[in-house]
Amino acid sequence: MQERVLVTGGAGFLGSHLCERLVREGADVLCVDNFYTGSRRNVQSLLDSKSFELMRHDVCFPLYVEVDQIYNLACPASPIHYQFDPVQTTKTSVHGAINMLGLAKRVKAKILQASTSEVYGDPEVHPQVESYWGRVNPIGLRSCYDEGKRCAETLFFDYWRQHHLRVKVVRIFNTYGPRMHPNDGRVVSNFIVQALQGKDITIYGTGQQTRSFCYVDDLLDAMMRTMRTGDDFTGPVNIGNPGEFTMLELAEKVLSLTGSRSKLVFAPLPADDPRQRQPDISLARDKLGWEPKVTLEDGLRETIAYFRSIVA
Ligand SMILES: NC(=O)c1ccc[n+]([C@@H]2O[C@H](COP(=O)([O-])OP(=O)(O)OC[C@H]3O[C@@H](n4cnc5c(N)ncnc54)[C@H](O)[C@@H]3O)[C@@H](O)[C@H]2O)c1
Repeated sequence: MQERVLVTGGAGFLGSHLCERLVREGADVLCVDNFYTGSRRNVQSLLDSKSFELMRHDVCFPLYVEVDQIYNLACPASPIHYQFDPVQTTKTSVHGAINMLGLAKRVKAKILQASTSEVYGDPEVHPQVESYWGRVNPIGLRSCYDEGKRCAETLFFDYWRQHHLRVKVVRIFNTYGPRMHPNDGRVVSNFIVQALQGKDITIYGTGQQTRSFCYVDDLLDAMMRTMRTGDDFTGPVNIGNPGEFTMLELAEKVLSLTGSRSKLVFAPLPADDPRQRQPDISLARDKLGWEPKVTLEDGLRETIAYFRSIVA
């Protein structure tokens, strides 16, 4: 029988790619989104499909539908968006998790939470392993997101222990690809847009802080593999690309791939910006038989092609 899959935040960057993949693989997909950062345009290619339905709904309110699986992605993901209305951000993570877990309990669905490497905060352990508890500021500008996601994880594991729900938690590290928001302040989109527009490329701090970037296709592979694991596997499992680059190296790659003549300029580091983040993906390798395949160059090429089509 065709599986009915609910994707919350399905009209966003990752969610729209996930909906496409699920429909392609034969699922009946219900995409729920309040269009806070997502858009109908992101799922345009699916709107005519009989296996796809788009519903405007805010996950802070209960949802009564019949589904077999839930991917809970609803939550603004970039600092600019999640700090715009921080109270709403925490509500989306916490009330959203409660509502989706309640739904999963009622209809006995399997449920996956899109958590984040931000649960590790500004880590003292490098690379980060799932057993590391993190170093998060509970009262800073990023806390609405970090603590909201941490509380969502708590709820997932309490529903698992208390109500025996089938839960999966993936901790997503920086992911990039087509349909990222052009103005969301994230480093990959920032650099590409600035390069394409011939504007100065802003590097925060010295540019020596590192990040690891995972291409969206790789990320979704891992996420869908996690959903298919046996009921005894809950995670949390790190998903990301351990290949590490400094911001300076990334800027130089973007400049060379776009052929841009933009200059690099330096600005002060934002508060609470973690200096270093890199996933340890041993668990994903072991349990999911997964590792990222797309190189930074190839992924950047696809992403640059997308941004060329939307920013002139
Ligand atoms: N992209 C990354 O690098 C990354 C890294 C770590 C975690 N994540 C997580 O993955 C998920 C998807 O991220 P993304 O990059 O696609 O971000 P995104 O902002 O493009 O997508 C989030 C989607 O959720 C929707 N949404 C927000 N609040 C909602 C609400 N209250 N009710 C219903 N829908 C709501 C938005 O409109 C948007 O479509 C998020 O939960 C994010 O925290 C992403």
